[in-house]
Amino acid sequence: MRVLVTGGAGYIGSIAVERLLDRGHQAVVIDDLWRGHAAAVDPRAVLEAVDLRDRSAVSVALKRHRPDAVLHFAGATLVPESVREPGLYFDVNVGGSLNLLEAMRAAEVERIVFSSTAAVYGAPETLPIREDAPTRPVNPYGQSKLAVEQMLAAYETAYGFRYAAFRYFNVAGASERLGEDHDPETHLIPSALLAVRGDRPALDLYGTDYPTPDGTAIRDYVHVLDLADAHIAALERLDRSLGPINLGTTAGFSVRQVVDAVEEATGRPVPVRLRPRRAGDPPALLADSARARELLDWEPSRSSLPEMIGSAWRWMERFPRGYGAATR
Ligand SMILES: NC(=O)c1ccc[n+]([C@@H]2O[C@H](COP(=O)([O-])OP(=O)(O)OC[C@H]3O[C@@H](n4cnc5c(N)ncnc54)[C@H](O)[C@@H]3O)[C@@H](O)[C@H]2O)c1
Repeated sequence: MRVLVTGGAGYIGSIAVERLLDRGHQAVVIDDLWRGHAAAVDPRAVLEAVDLRDRSAVSVALKRHRPDAVLHFAGATLVPESVREPGLYFDVNVGGSLNLLEAMRAAEVERIVFSSTAAVYGAPETLPIREDAPTRPVNPYGQSKLAVEQMLAAYETAYGFRYAAFRYFNVAGASERLGEDHDPETHLIPSALLAVRGDRPALDLYGTDYPTPDGTAIRDYVHVLDLADAHIAALERLDRSLGPINLGTTAGFSVRQVVDAVEEATGRPVPVRLRPRRAGDPPALLADSARARELLDWEPSRSSLPEMIGSAWRWMERFPRGYGAATR
């Protein structure tokens, strides 16, 4: 298959590209490198440095490469930034996705897997969360992702698009060559590892009085390689629409458990700074992943804390400056 991957210079997209190529598929990356790294794009892939907000450039790229399907990872991803700058989030995530869908329509490409998020649920009433739970996002990031899901459903009805909207929970881990290098880094596991290395003074731990066994918030983590494999499984099954699908493991680990596992994996203490809860952070988010198992035959096999943290730590040790000054 020839697959066009938006955001293929970012954390998850670059690893999905590597997996696709390893399986014998072809990959074309669209990424304006705003928050990605050219060095993260596998040299076997074609890189088109295009901003999704540039409708004509996106259209030209789709027509030039005529992919069989699209994996759509590109987007703005930081919740606090979305609260401060909502326009940016609707522009990049909603406007950029609209341009992509229109370009797909013009190039007669009808299959797409979209990177959505558990943030579409807001504060869930019941756990684990099923896909038919109410979607009430509490910030512009989640709202922008939900809007794209709604666009996909409308394009399915009107034009016969076939799509999967993957609602990721927390993604972690690395491949041998590719890992997580965000600026700023807000995700728990790399943040804890950066604190261990002394690259930041301490890990900020938000909330110790949640109604959870150890008082810290519980999240559902999935290894980025398991996540990438779910995308390939979806591509193989998009002869019909799959709709929204949660990608998590239902297991769930507390912040405290993650910190303990980081200390175990690195053999070093994590300096921690205790902070109050952040507005909008629910005590626990856990995915009901039955739909992913049924529709994709997907069974995450690497999503234990030692495997996720171990792979992230090995990658950081191997590339202490991340992608730094690396070139493609
Ligand atoms: N990492 C997670 O835990 C997580 C959880 C839930 C959802 N997601 C979603 O998964 C996707 C990938 O996440 P990630 O962690 O790899 O993010 P990332 O920031 O590492 O990658 C996003 C990529 O998109 C590119 N991009 C952004 N705006 C663009 C534009 N206008 N035109 C072209 N390219 C553009 C960036 O340059 C970057 O390379 C995102 O859509 C995110 O919302 C991630």
